[in-house]
Amino acid sequence: MPSARRTPAERRANCGSARWGSIVTPRLVLREFTMADIEAYYELESNEENARYQDWLPRTMDQARELVLANIQGSSACPRSTWELVVECAGRMIGRVGAASTQLEHDSSNRTTNHVDLWFSFLPAFHGKGYATEAMEVFIEVLSQGQDADVMELEIECDPRNTGSWKLAQRLGFERHSLTRRAWESKGEWVDSLVYRKVMEGGI
Ligand SMILES: CC(C)(COP(=O)(O)OP(=O)(O)OC[C@H]1O[C@@H](n2cnc3c(N)ncnc32)[C@H](O)[C@@H]1OP(=O)(O)O)[C@@H](O)C(=O)NCCC(=O)NCCS
Repeated sequence: MPSARRTPAERRANCGSARWGSIVTPRLVLREFTMADIEAYYELESNEENARYQDWLPRTMDQARELVLANIQGSSACPRSTWELVVECAGRMIGRVGAASTQLEHDSSNRTTNHVDLWFSFLPAFHGKGYATEAMEVFIEVLSQGQDADVMELEIECDPRNTGSWKLAQRLGFERHSLTRRAWESKGEWVDSLVYRKVMEGGI
């Protein structure tokens, strides 16, 4: 079991390759990005329906290229704190799943907690088939195995109008944590922020 008391130098020394191998599920493959994924990433992220409740406008091809490059660069950071993986079905990219981890201060019992923000996006043609749930379940499982902390606090944040997002959080066993009205301005309108959380401990 990973110890939360390793020093940063020890963690770096133990890192090895930060990039993940492919993860295979009954219907999907989750894998790291390559530069060959730019067009498929653009198809996903230029989609207006997908961007509806995101903080950004549909992406341009230049933005898609930059984001894929950033994912590739981030994948070899050591220690690694962000992960974004391609989700493939029958050899085609149908979505992406991601996570960003931040280590919180020790609590009163001297335990360390990693706060992990999660995200996901799938092509509309592949909604309603359980693919996002299947991908997120295995993603969280593998992520939890590599966490260098006693506790992992997982968070999914969304606009409450984004039904697909909070229903997915519920299917993954997350519990409603908070609802903040008019949390921030996004694309010219004030939006609410709904947060779901799941705490995993002991088995990390
Ligand atoms: C969020 C998002 C990934 C959810 O997609 P989704 O298709 O609802 O989620 P899943 O792929 O897990 O599919 C679940 C649905 O498929 C159904 N389903 C059909 N076959 C299934 C199967 N074999 N296994 C499991 N579920 C199945 C489920 O009943 C469920 O339907 P329901 O919502 O009507 O109850 C999707 O809406 C999306 O990509 N949105 C755009 C990006 C976005 O907003 N991201 C979140 C930002 S916070």
